[in-house]
Amino acid sequence: MNTLKVGICGLGTVGSGTVNVLQRNAATISARAGVNIEIVHVGARRDNPLCDITPYKVSRDIFEVVRDPNVDLVIELIGGTTIAKDLVTEAINNGKHVVTANKALIALYGNDLLALAAEKGVTVAFEAAVAGGIPIIKAVREGVAANEIKWLAGIINGTGNFILTEMREKGRDFADVLAEAQALGYAEADPTFDVEGIDAAHKLVILASLAFGMPFRFEKCFTEGISNIDALDVKFAEELGYRIKHLGIARRCENGIELRVHPTLIPEKRLIANVNGVMNAVLVNGDASGPTLYYGAGAGADATASAVIADVVDIARGNQIPMMGFAPEEVSKQRILPIEEVQTAFYLRISAEDKPGVLSEIATALSARGISIEAIIQKEAQDDEVRVPIIILTNRTVESKMIDAVSTIEQFDFVQRPVVRVRVESLAG
Ligand code: HSE
Repeated sequence: MNTLKVGICGLGTVGSGTVNVLQRNAATISARAGVNIEIVHVGARRDNPLCDITPYKVSRDIFEVVRDPNVDLVIELIGGTTIAKDLVTEAINNGKHVVTANKALIALYGNDLLALAAEKGVTVAFEAAVAGGIPIIKAVREGVAANEIKWLAGIINGTGNFILTEMREKGRDFADVLAEAQALGYAEADPTFDVEGIDAAHKLVILASLAFGMPFRFEKCFTEGISNIDALDVKFAEELGYRIKHLGIARRCENGIELRVHPTLIPEKRLIANVNGVMNAVLVNGDASGPTLYYGAGAGADATASAVIADVVDIARGNQIPMMGFAPEEVSKQRILPIEEVQTAFYLRISAEDKPGVLSEIATALSARGISIEAIIQKEAQDDEVRVPIIILTNRTVESKMIDAVSTIEQFDFVQRPVVRVRVESLAG
């Protein structure tokens, strides 16, 4: 059997998991690959007690790994986009294949890195960059290759999903749950990446490119976080038969591609609405396959190592799969819809004085823009309450009309600003 010599850069959670899984399942992995896969060099600033690297050459300067003529393939697990970009660029220039779990690196610099890799005749693979242990890149790139993908929607940030789940199930406070997610090791180094949707946007951009054959365009992704979601909205959504999930959605429309991350009400009867805690799930709707759902751990040492090693096996097998899922010359820029042009239904929470005419004025502001009301809840005022929450579910409308309607509603003197506005998706096939 031939041998593929691997260098690993970074020995954090995913790095140590990769060493452990490669050691534990060495015989099976090599049997599947048809090639011995051997770690020969590890680059890490410090050891990690969770794995044993004594059999390997170890460098404190990770660049020694990409300069080692004995290394055929570099696994980049340091994260970030500055040193990681230099490291991967040098690895490619030195003729080494690269496997990375770095979603930010691919979403921001993937176009250039893949082009350089093609020029140098090596592969840059990134299964572990999206949804940890779920083989979602393979599913979109290969499994549904026969389809025109209509849309995909995913819970692709475990920290955000954990927060929303705990708020709904236990009525816990946002900050309190976030602190727990950090302690569990799921949150990004900068947790605003999780709660403001940046991490999910990195992943969505990658999935959308593979689904629709377009370059990675992170700058075009609309991103809204979950930090403004109130426990009240979680409760009212439930009353209406919905759950609030932080979704990444990519959809092909007549005028272009929707690319957006935001809190979304989805019907509680959908399987994906019942994906709880730190788990991830991606729903892919192909014209031939119909909706297909992929579920699993979106982070964690062994789960992410599983995805990293799958890419190593692919490369060891000599698979000639175009990493973007389309022949490189077919990958083309497509129009990404500004959020104002996107059509969704809406949930509105309006805090208004309890007096005659309030509901009819709000209804008129909506109907004047062709927006019809699908459901409404108005609670009775309690003894000491001046204002009452009015909850409205609308039909689908283009976002610019809703922005306009809400700005009119916010000007009524009986309405307290701001009006809470959350998009609603049916996620029906
Ligand atoms: N911070 C990420 C999450 C880690 O919570 O899903 C995995 O990318």
